[in-house]
Amino acid sequence: MERLAGRVAVVTGAGSGIGLATVRRLSAEGALAVCVDVNEDAGKAAADEVGGEFVQCDVTDEDAVRALFDGVAERHGRVDIAFNNAGISPPDDDSILVTGLDAWERVIKVNTTSVFLCCKYAIPHMRRQGKGSIINTASFVALMGAATSQIAYTASKGGVLALTRELGVQFAREGIRINALCPGPVATPLLLELFAKDPERAARRLVHVPMGRFAQPEEIAAAVAFLASDDASFMTAAQFVVDGGITGAYVTPL
Ligand SMILES: NC(=O)c1ccc[n+]([C@@H]2O[C@H](COP(=O)([O-])OP(=O)(O)OC[C@H]3O[C@@H](n4cnc5c(N)ncnc54)[C@H](O)[C@@H]3O)[C@@H](O)[C@H]2O)c1
Repeated sequence: MERLAGRVAVVTGAGSGIGLATVRRLSAEGALAVCVDVNEDAGKAAADEVGGEFVQCDVTDEDAVRALFDGVAERHGRVDIAFNNAGISPPDDDSILVTGLDAWERVIKVNTTSVFLCCKYAIPHMRRQGKGSIINTASFVALMGAATSQIAYTASKGGVLALTRELGVQFAREGIRINALCPGPVATPLLLELFAKDPERAARRLVHVPMGRFAQPEEIAAAVAFLASDDASFMTAAQFVVDGGITGAYVTPL
């Protein structure tokens, strides 16, 4: 399918996990992928693989984010899709009882402030075009509480949801669709390694997933491609949940 032929897509956090699977998928559907990452080796490898463009950028740096979107518009004439996906989940973000202000501020900055900045500097280009699709990565934890707390992460994703809803409404009549993606837990190498070391921790989580497994990054990328495409033309200000049924469950199959 060439749903995205001729479109220019900016993907942050493109070097790994969901971002990497997404640049592969968007490219396969015909888009030019601008692969953005703070990690030069990973971002460059992603861009080389998909025949896209690498831009090194720390998405918490306002000048760098402005230069990113202005540069893409200058070089390619447009910014059709912005997948604001870069995020962190560091080990020092834990229960509120032990999480320090430094961890709180770092997580909010990378996960929420970056989305504010990317929207702020993508939207003017999309207004000029009268069209655009922004997808901001939140999480299922923005919708439900966990006793295994990562308090800053959860709050940061709640912020992404609220910000996305408001922007989606504000720009709905200008042809710009702005949606939040809420993935369930994804089988990234990091998560798998953690749970391979500690099967009890994995079991504690898996019991809540009706499908009985974690997502593959490609399953999240497929949802991004849908939201980015005209197939989602009546969707904006939405929270698009791709979680194997977690948020719909009371008890799960044995
Ligand atoms: N993996 C999951 O289970 C899961 C579930 C729900 C939501 N999410 C969210 O999905 C997004 C991607 O997660 P992932 O698992 O693919 O992560 P990942 O760690 O595999 O990849 C994140 C990428 O973002 C980059 N990055 C980090 N900080 C950056 C910064 N300041 N500027 C630019 N790039 C930066 C990293 O270098 C890395 O390449 C995150 O927002 C995460 O919170 C992940």
